[in-house]
Amino acid sequence: MAHGNHSTIHNPQLAIELREIPKIELHVHLEGSLTESQLRYLAKKYRTPLWESQTDAVAELYNFQTFPDFLNAYKVCCQHLRTPEDYVQLTGSLLQQLADQHCVYAEILFTPSICSRFGLPAEEVIEAVLQRSIEASRSGPHIRWVFDTVRQWGPDLCWQTLEWAIRYQEKGVAGICIGGDEASEPARRFREVFESAEKAGLHRVAHAGEICDARSVWLAIEELRAERIAHGIRALQDPLLVDYLVGHRLPLDVCITSNFKTGVVERDQPHPIENMARSGIPFTLNSDDPGLFQTSLLQEWERAAEILHWLPEQFVTLTRQTLQYAFLTSEERRQFQNLIR
Ligand code: HPA
Ligand code: ZN
Repeated sequence: MAHGNHSTIHNPQLAIELREIPKIELHVHLEGSLTESQLRYLAKKYRTPLWESQTDAVAELYNFQTFPDFLNAYKVCCQHLRTPEDYVQLTGSLLQQLADQHCVYAEILFTPSICSRFGLPAEEVIEAVLQRSIEASRSGPHIRWVFDTVRQWGPDLCWQTLEWAIRYQEKGVAGICIGGDEASEPARRFREVFESAEKAGLHRVAHAGEICDARSVWLAIEELRAERIAHGIRALQDPLLVDYLVGHRLPLDVCITSNFKTGVVERDQPHPIENMARSGIPFTLNSDDPGLFQTSLLQEWERAAEILHWLPEQFVTLTRQTLQYAFLTSEERRQFQNLIR
């Protein structure tokens, strides 16, 4: 049985084959793509306490073992992004990483309200990162954006996020998402925002069933009309929910490394993806925060191959299914179909 400590597969041939298969990623946070070395660079640039520290404060920050410590590391990363140019550079390196993994399409989560909270001109940052991804799509992966909002910051910033998502819809924003501390604010407080998002033709994702139980996934579906659930690892607790996800083809954005590193799945336990696959729950594989978790979509594939004993052709099938859950029109879907073997 594959447990959390295994990070790479021991079959080099399989690794090579997986690398070549065209990929789709639906759940990767821009801010969480910041690597240790990128953070060190920014800490030095801005002479922050991380840079002044006598110990290796960056390595310590990235060595979180619990979900609250992960959220803190996330916040510190965001506090080091201080200009639109910092965001543009981060976008550029994430796009390059996606291209290197043969990713043909990705939905990137970005939290513009972090900019306004930390005193940055949010609209300037939004316009700069969207423009960067439009430029990249000529030669690299095609990108859609999902604007994330922080649950513990309440509905007002979620409304603000929706406003931005609507304003920039034509520039590649496909939907909104809610993340952060799942235990903080009840889903119903965001119901109207998500309802308005749906009316505006925006898609909806929610982080749910990650630290809270299956009930939280039901609330994301009932109150927020989420079309995809991020993580949802606790869904298996509730057979009725499992039936619902299977019956409605409502997928989970599964992020294996994320779950072990934030401690929401214990490191010596098997990942629930085994039981999800057995139950027929639709899922996609994702890196979530590749910088903070020191992972990549390819590594997530390698871990899944080890746990599920999958062969390359099963990853081609997974990619075809992932395309069905992407926030694309059927015409766009047909075009990407041609890029997937
Ligand atoms: N959960 C909640 N919020 C997040 C996550 C996560 O896994 N990643 C980035 N923001
Ligand atoms: Zn996430």
